[in-house]
This record gives sequence, structure tokens and C-alpha cells, in this order.
Amino acid sequence: MRILFTADIFAQAGRRMASVHIPALLRERDVDFVIANGENAAGGFGLTDNLVGKLRSYGVDVITSGNHIWDRKEFVPQLDRDDRVLRPFNYPPGAPGQGSTIAESRSGHKVAVLSLQGRTSMPSTDCPFRLGKAEVERLRQQTPIVFIDFHAEATAEKVALGWYLDGFASAIIGTHTHVQTADERILPQGTAYLTDAGMTGPHDSVIGVQPEQAIRRFLTQVPTRFKPAEEGARFCGVLVDIDTDSGKATHIERLQIAETTT
Ligand SMILES: [Fe+2]
Ligand SMILES: [Fe+2]
Repeated sequence: MRILFTADIFAQAGRRMASVHIPALLRERDVDFVIANGENAAGGFGLTDNLVGKLRSYGVDVITSGNHIWDRKEFVPQLDRDDRVLRPFNYPPGAPGQGSTIAESRSGHKVAVLSLQGRTSMPSTDCPFRLGKAEVERLRQQTPIVFIDFHAEATAEKVALGWYLDGFASAIIGTHTHVQTADERILPQGTAYLTDAGMTGPHDSVIGVQPEQAIRRFLTQVPTRFKPAEEGARFCGVLVDIDTDSGKATHIERLQIAETTT
């Protein structure tokens, strides 16, 4: 089976690219299941009910997230009501929502999705390594197909989790930096790995934000309210082929599609 993972969908430009390319990839690339990171879908900060509905209408089966999932306070209670929108699993007990789910693919296979968050230069959470491994083992009792979105800043932490869970998870795809890396591979025990899938959003930006605003912040160190950029839209993501009997990945393809202007 083939899973499409869509990197952080950032504001309007990201939603526009998702609305075009997710349906196209479903049609043209035989995609069986769609996961998208939605933490920046609402103007760069968090999610809304309305946008969850829109992402579903494009074909997204499960939405993963990260540190920005808490930005829209009015949306947070929805995390307890919708088990197809995940916050990182390793937030401490008592945090709203859930960090993993199992959903059925278009061809009838059970797909487990697990959202984890790193701890290096990130909000303080419980250990993604120990909790992540225990949760993968629990999910594997129900299906061999386990897909992890590892939302983390530090390359070394992401690479280390890849090796730690090689052979346990079908795929470990990094998010959060909004800059795609070119290190996609299948690890020796059959886990598809990519340090960062990038950003589905405006690339004439500083990780989504208008460049002049981000530069002013660096020059003055004065916090300002960032506005999303609009230019240079790209769709970023990855296609992973998985053997449905073993749960091992057989192929990984990195995607980066620039908007064509006519
Ligand atoms: Fe993000
Ligand atoms: Fe993030």
C-alpha cells in the first residue's frame, strides 16, 4: 500500500497547494491513505473545525500536529472529540486529546498513526523514545502498519529515533523545521526515514513568515505578531510504499512541487 504524508500545511498558500495536490496524488499515484500535518493550517497557528473539514474534503484521513496545535484555544477541546486529529503523544498525562489512532485505508488495511514531539529546543514533554516505543508495540498488536510523524527541531534527535525504532515502525517522517531534507532512505530493518518533510506553504518566506517581519525580529529582538507569507507556494511531502503483511517499507519518494503560474 502507498501512504501520502503531507508536510506542515501553512496558512492559505499551504491550503491551496493541499487542495490541488492531495486529490491529484490520490488520482494519479495510487495513494491508499493520506496523513497531513495541520499544526500551521490556520494562518500559521493551529487548526479550526472548519479547516479540519476542508482538509478531510481534500482526502486527508488523519491529521498530525506539533507544538502549534495549542495556538487556537477554541479548538483545543475538539481534540477530545475527534480521534483523527492528533496532538503529540508524549505530552504529559492530563493534556487534552490523543497522540495515536488507527484508521482504515481505502483498500481496507488498518493504518496506525503516531504523533511524537522532540525535546531538544522544544517545549518540555515526556520522552518520545521510551513512550514512542511502548506505543508502537501496543499499536503493532492491532496492525503491522505504523506511521510516525516526529515533530522535532534537532536533526540528531530525529536520526536517533529513526535508528531506535528501525524495524518497529513502517515509517518515521520528521516535521517542524519547515525545510525539507534530502536524506530519505529505508533503514536496514525496513523503516522508511526522512529527517524533515518540509512545508506545504509559502516558500518565499522564513519558514512561512513574511521575510521582513522575521528579519526585524532578529535585528531588534522585539516580539511581533507574524503574518504568513503568500508567495512561492510549494507542496512538500513523501510517498511511502509499505508491505501490508510485514509492515516494512519497500520504497520512499520525497515530493516537492512548486506552484505553476500561468
Ligand atoms: Fe510546523
Ligand atoms: Fe512545529
